[in-house]
Amino acid sequence: MSPKTGTILVTGGCGYVGSHTVLSLLESGYKVIVLDNLSNTSSSAEPAVTPEALKRVQKILSTDEPIPFYAVDITDKPALVRIFESHPDISAVIHCAGLKSVGESGRRPLDYYNVNIAGTVNLLQVMEDFDVRRMVFSSSATVYGDPPKIPIPETSPIVASMSTYGRTKVFLEHIIKDFYRWSATLLRYFNPAGAHPSGIMGEDPQGIPNNLMPYLAQVAVGNLEKLTVFGQDYPTKDGTCIRDYLHVVDCADGHVAALKKIEREEAAGTFECNAYNLGAGTGCSVLDMVHAFSKAVGRDLPYVISARRLGDVPNLTADPTLANKELNWKATKTLDEMCADLWRWQRNNPSGYRTQN
Ligand code: UFG
Repeated sequence: MSPKTGTILVTGGCGYVGSHTVLSLLESGYKVIVLDNLSNTSSSAEPAVTPEALKRVQKILSTDEPIPFYAVDITDKPALVRIFESHPDISAVIHCAGLKSVGESGRRPLDYYNVNIAGTVNLLQVMEDFDVRRMVFSSSATVYGDPPKIPIPETSPIVASMSTYGRTKVFLEHIIKDFYRWSATLLRYFNPAGAHPSGIMGEDPQGIPNNLMPYLAQVAVGNLEKLTVFGQDYPTKDGTCIRDYLHVVDCADGHVAALKKIEREEAAGTFECNAYNLGAGTGCSVLDMVHAFSKAVGRDLPYVISARRLGDVPNLTADPTLANKELNWKATKTLDEMCADLWRWQRNNPSGYRTQN
């Protein structure tokens, strides 16, 4: 049987990685529809209004053609059913929707289990009912916990990690593997950062950012006073934690590569469910990132050192060899590009998508 080709449903398609993935898919010639509950965006939840992130995708593509969008929560199964009924040509789902804050997950564990686990089970059930058997799933390097070996290969044990958020990703990897005897790819993101090089799309966190790069960007634009570096007593070259920062456009392209791999395999009659590291394979410390971003901004950004943040591990650096080989994908953008692109986005959009351009 030849593989069914059709429309790609992107859940969480108005989020940071999701919206860049929508753009990469459209640039690669796919038809796309987007589902998002807009809980972590500045867009209005009014379904008739195209969310700003998708308007920006249209702007980059210089098109007035709207991207079909549904303001739907994955916990709302009847609404999911209606989307699949309206779009019988959905052939694959790129599943980015989910709650993603490590700290918040400790305070609201049941919300994380409800949205991430129950919501994904709903989605899988609806996919099964509509015979949609391809999924690319947003997992996370957090599934490795504090790994025994750096750089981390995919064979490193996945553990019921340091946070409720991390546990939802571990459970979901198992659930998708159990369910998906057909074609699924689990993408373990390391640290997506940066913005589209146009400066038109980027990360737009609500409230005070939890993550390093959006926080630094807010310091640079004057919305926050200084960065607090969480701990300088780790066993690393400068005492701060090491992470593998991946340009968000490379991360988005990884989803298209994963989809193409599924299509290739189905065409060859093989069906697999594998996990891949989406990382650059280069470890940078917190202070490396402060210096690299300060260079892009053109002045030293203020920071203070404080105590460790609960749950942080010293080093998460990917071994991306398997992804390079089997997905035919490689991170191509440099740290300097990542920082320059982030700065262009934040400087042009000091209030994110609420900025009137
Ligand atoms: N950091 C600071 N100050 C800040 C924010 C972060 O010093 O204000 C430090 C952290 O302590 C850590 C590093 O910067 O050492 C990176 O922190 P991020 O919060 O940006 O990213 P994490 O590596 O903690 O987490 C990210 C995602 C998670 C994902 C994880 C997997 O946010 O969803 O990567 O590696 F699970």
